[in-house]
Amino acid sequence: MSLSLQLLLLLTLTVRTALTGEYYLYVTDECLTSSSALTDVEFIRTEYFNKYPYARFNSTVGEFVGFTEYGVQTAEYYNSHPYVHQLRSELERYCKPSLGFDFYSVLEKTVKPRVELKAEQQPKGAHTSMLMCSAYDFYPAAIDVYWQKDGKKVTTDVTTTQELADGDWYYQVHSHLEYTPRSGEKISCVVEHASFSEPMVYDLDPSLPESERKKIAIGASGLVLGIILSAAGFIYYKKKSSGRILVPT
Ligand SMILES: *[C@@H]1O[C@H](CO)[C@@H](O)[C@H](O)[C@H]1NC(C)=O
Repeated sequence: MSLSLQLLLLLTLTVRTALTGEYYLYVTDECLTSSSALTDVEFIRTEYFNKYPYARFNSTVGEFVGFTEYGVQTAEYYNSHPYVHQLRSELERYCKPSLGFDFYSVLEKTVKPRVELKAEQQPKGAHTSMLMCSAYDFYPAAIDVYWQKDGKKVTTDVTTTQELADGDWYYQVHSHLEYTPRSGEKISCVVEHASFSEPMVYDLDPSLPESERKKIAIGASGLVLGIILSAAGFIYYKKKSSGRILVPT
């Protein structure tokens, strides 16, 4: 990764010296492949004037091809020049090691998603419930998030977003399930991702949602405090009154 970035930077700097007035000449180098096996790697160098490509070297073709009159002349010149021999070796010298390193250091790494399953607050009196299963900060983007009801895949009333890029190599995805709660039914969210050796099943906690639990916890603490205080008051009262009785008059 760092190797290829450095080389690209050098190239841009050299080309910038060709900047004249409002015209912009630049060259891009691309190493293309469809898999880490690196069996179909292509090296492509393209020369642009302003936004238009005028000549391209394709390692599969082995020489330059021009797209405009000037490009055709340029390609002819390059193809009869030692320059083209140098480019023919770029596939082995530059592309294969760089791509190999990119696959090894980044592209083949996987990062496990952090999965959150929760019931969303519904308006009072609603019969249906909305569940959300979210997967955060995973890599690569390919993921499968689906729902199960008592172990069977749910196909209706499900809405799932695309894999959303966080912009930092990681992705997130959200799946909603609208359902009518029935007691004894087990709802799970299943996540399949390259970082897992098997599908991960997350069961919905059938207990009350967070906010309800908090309300109950506050109520219960109040009740306990009340009982303690009245017990203390009662004991204090008893001691005082019994003490008075004990004192002989
Ligand atoms: C390079 O040339 C080959 C053979 O003509 C072609 O199949 C391939 O698509 C070209 N690659 C690009 C990126 O243009």
